[in-house]
Amino acid sequence: MALSEKISVPRHIAIIMDGNGRWAKKRGLPRNAGHKAGAETFRRIADHCNSIGVKYLTVYAFSTENWKRSEEEVSGIMGLLEYYLKEALRDMEKNHIRFCAFGDLSRLSPKLQQLCRQTMERSRAFTDVQVNFCINYGGRDEIVRAAKRFAAAVAAGERTADSLTEADFETYLDSAGVPDPELVIRPSGELRTSNFLPWQSAYSELVFMDVLWPDFTNDDLDKAIEEYHRRNRRFGGV
Ligand code: IPE
Ligand code: IPE
Ligand code: MG
Repeated sequence: MALSEKISVPRHIAIIMDGNGRWAKKRGLPRNAGHKAGAETFRRIADHCNSIGVKYLTVYAFSTENWKRSEEEVSGIMGLLEYYLKEALRDMEKNHIRFCAFGDLSRLSPKLQQLCRQTMERSRAFTDVQVNFCINYGGRDEIVRAAKRFAAAVAAGERTADSLTEADFETYLDSAGVPDPELVIRPSGELRTSNFLPWQSAYSELVFMDVLWPDFTNDDLDKAIEEYHRRNRRFGGV
């Protein structure tokens, strides 16, 4: 029996797609071969999420800290993003997936920014599944950008500082309108969240898995969901 028939799936799953470099190293391949394999895994996992009924899938593709890597690696990753965004645009009518980019896109090349904007605009009407792609994303950076937008609204006389609530503040985040993830998965064996969705994951269940992202299977995703179901979510209650 398929997992989705056995137990309800979380509405929103977030994944830190980590371990591409180690996957490549183990095979004596360049790091960018790992990123290519990781991109294929993303495509497969996005399909799987779609087929089991996940409504929102948020994936960490490139962090605000990842610019520290070599020029060769960064341009390889940007090239892959371009390739997959073009594919998403081409196959949009078939896949019916809404695409959203989280992160500060202003540091990306004009071409990549344009592709992100086009994909977001043209997929806006698809409401079944939404994929949030985090590119040049950092959770602290997201909060600072949100604070700046709120401050600008105060300066323009549209808002007052005293009236700000948590729910209001969320409307200034990249994730405005998206419910918080119930489940955050980090493969690769690292036990940290590396600046991924700090606001939104305040009460998420975290599942760390000892598998490198390019090796991550549909079965691994199902196992993470089963682990999520074993947790007792109290939200501060008893
Ligand atoms: C994740 O894989 C992809 C990005 C951060 C862009 P890594 O490249 O971090 O892989 P490891 O952690 O070095 O194995
Ligand atoms: C987090 O992985 C970022 C992405 C997966 C895009 P990193 O490999 O950059 O994180 P650290 O360096 O292990 O914390
Ligand atoms: Mg890593």
